[in-house]
Amino acid sequence: MKPRDIQLLQEAALAEARQAATIEALEAVRVRYLGRRGLLPEVMQGLKDLPPTERPEAGRYANDLKEALTALIQERKQVLANRTVAGQTGFDVSRPGAWRGYGRRHPISRIIEEVTDIFFRMGFTVADGPDIETEYHNFDALNTPADHPSRDIQDTFWLEDGSLLRTQTSPVQIRVMESRRPPIRIIAPGRCYRRDTVDATHSANFHQIEGLYVDRAVSLAQLKGDLTYFARHLMGPDVRVRFRPHYFPFTEPSLEYDFSCHVCGGKGCRVCKQSGWIEISGAGMVNPKVLRQVGYDPETVTGYAFGMGVERIAMIKFGIEDIRLLYDNDIRFLEQFGA
Ligand code: PHE
Repeated sequence: MKPRDIQLLQEAALAEARQAATIEALEAVRVRYLGRRGLLPEVMQGLKDLPPTERPEAGRYANDLKEALTALIQERKQVLANRTVAGQTGFDVSRPGAWRGYGRRHPISRIIEEVTDIFFRMGFTVADGPDIETEYHNFDALNTPADHPSRDIQDTFWLEDGSLLRTQTSPVQIRVMESRRPPIRIIAPGRCYRRDTVDATHSANFHQIEGLYVDRAVSLAQLKGDLTYFARHLMGPDVRVRFRPHYFPFTEPSLEYDFSCHVCGGKGCRVCKQSGWIEISGAGMVNPKVLRQVGYDPETVTGYAFGMGVERIAMIKFGIEDIRLLYDNDIRFLEQFGA
């Protein structure tokens, strides 16, 4: 085939490839020209019969044909394949992707992470205990009298075998002290259960974070200092902490602690009900009876313990007015609280 004829053949081939409307038609064009018994191999075969002066030119054109046709077929195949998917499934592959967004941490998880993080900096590590507790760990070992009202079936979920759903994270204190020697410095976040009637501030299932520090000569001053450090890192550098005498069977002396209102700075507002203070939870020096119960000598070691309600802190920090919102799992509510 003369060089000029090879050029014409290329034009015809490209035109056919452009017109092929289906992948099958395109494949037929490929076979017809580039296949083992196609036109191009035939042209190649024929090169040797050309006069030597025309051979190089004809060879170049034959190569051009092969390259141009291969490239065009590949490109058209892609286009047709996309069109087929779009036609059959209604899925437009050329459309930009739809963004589903990331999930977010639940406000309760966020508070637990923030609080434990602050205590990590003070040398605390996380400890854990079971949700299903023994009466011994939840009450007896914590020096709770046998007739204490919190043991009542109206307040505690009792299981048939005599165990219970823990009403507080304080039993983790006992479990940790039973299994380790001082110095102990742990923080224990976890679920607690009480037979409370659910309302805007009560939930039958809630979370606490327990803290325990036992060593030689741990003092009430350290407890106050550490809780104040904690408060400032959690709520802001100007927050003050107030300690009030209280009673818990497992601490002596016992206290309750409040943060100055982070909204009004203590002047009194709607959030703190005009008092300037927000109640957080209880704390105190570990009762020597409890230390003796776990086999420690209260003459050589002392300790402090504190608790806090996670939901309560979340509500204060994020301005949430109804505890139930934390459990509704309404994404519109939950996604307001950052990463
Ligand atoms: N466990 C107590 C409660 O649930 C809080 C507390 C913890 C008090 C540790 C003193 C020490 O109210």
